[in-house]
Amino acid sequence: MMQRTPEPELMDEAEQARAYAWADFDAPHQFFIDCFQQRFTNKHLHGNVLDLGCGPADISVRFARAYPHCHIDGIDGAEAMLAEGRERLAREQLTERIHLYRVNLPRDTIPVPAYDVIISNSLLHHLHDPQVLWQAVKQHGRPGTPVFVMDLQRPASPQEARELMEQYAASEPPILQRDFYHSLCAAFTPEEVRQQLHQVGLDYLEVKSVSDRHLVVQGHLGE
Ligand SMILES: C[S@@+](CC[C@H](N)C(=O)[O-])C[C@H]1O[C@@H](n2cnc3c(N)ncnc32)[C@H](O)[C@@H]1O
Repeated sequence: MMQRTPEPELMDEAEQARAYAWADFDAPHQFFIDCFQQRFTNKHLHGNVLDLGCGPADISVRFARAYPHCHIDGIDGAEAMLAEGRERLAREQLTERIHLYRVNLPRDTIPVPAYDVIISNSLLHHLHDPQVLWQAVKQHGRPGTPVFVMDLQRPASPQEARELMEQYAASEPPILQRDFYHSLCAAFTPEEVRQQLHQVGLDYLEVKSVSDRHLVVQGHLGE
């Protein structure tokens, strides 16, 4: 099994943030929403949603469109990403339902103590210490809060990572191809994620491989 190679946590280079914000994530991000809806079938979710590591807010926007009664707080430590996100929210006229905050975990404080729903896409593999995500989930939910985290899962070898990059990022700019390869190498395996959850007392959440490159962690927070 290939060892994990962490990548820098924050995506704070303007060029990188711009390339990411304008990349075509339609398929994987729609997949995020579809998997969420498969797991949580209440079509009328409402309340405050926390999107951890929201980047340029594409997941926040899709979630807001899928659940018109939800308000979303997106948090991210990279100003370059949030700047892209703010432009997007203005274009889509969603500035009243989605708020973005610069929060570098675990140093800064998340704006609201407890949320009704917690989501996160592709933050986990950026974290040098994965417990930073699980602590945030634990501390900012309430009993029964739906939790849905999707991330890449680490392939067995560098060769397999290259093949996935060629299959899914071949038409993207080189900077995104590079980031995707590094992200695959920085990702965790489902078994590693189960161990992380066990350590923090969240092992009742389900960890599931859902595609050739994605895993999800899903369930309701306990009492
Ligand atoms: C791959 S992007 C995912 C963005 C978004 N969730 C999406 O799916 O498009 C990961 C994001 O996590 C942010 N990030 C990484 N480490 C962080 C930390 N310690 N605190 C806050 N944000 C962090 C990065 O700045 C980056 O915007």
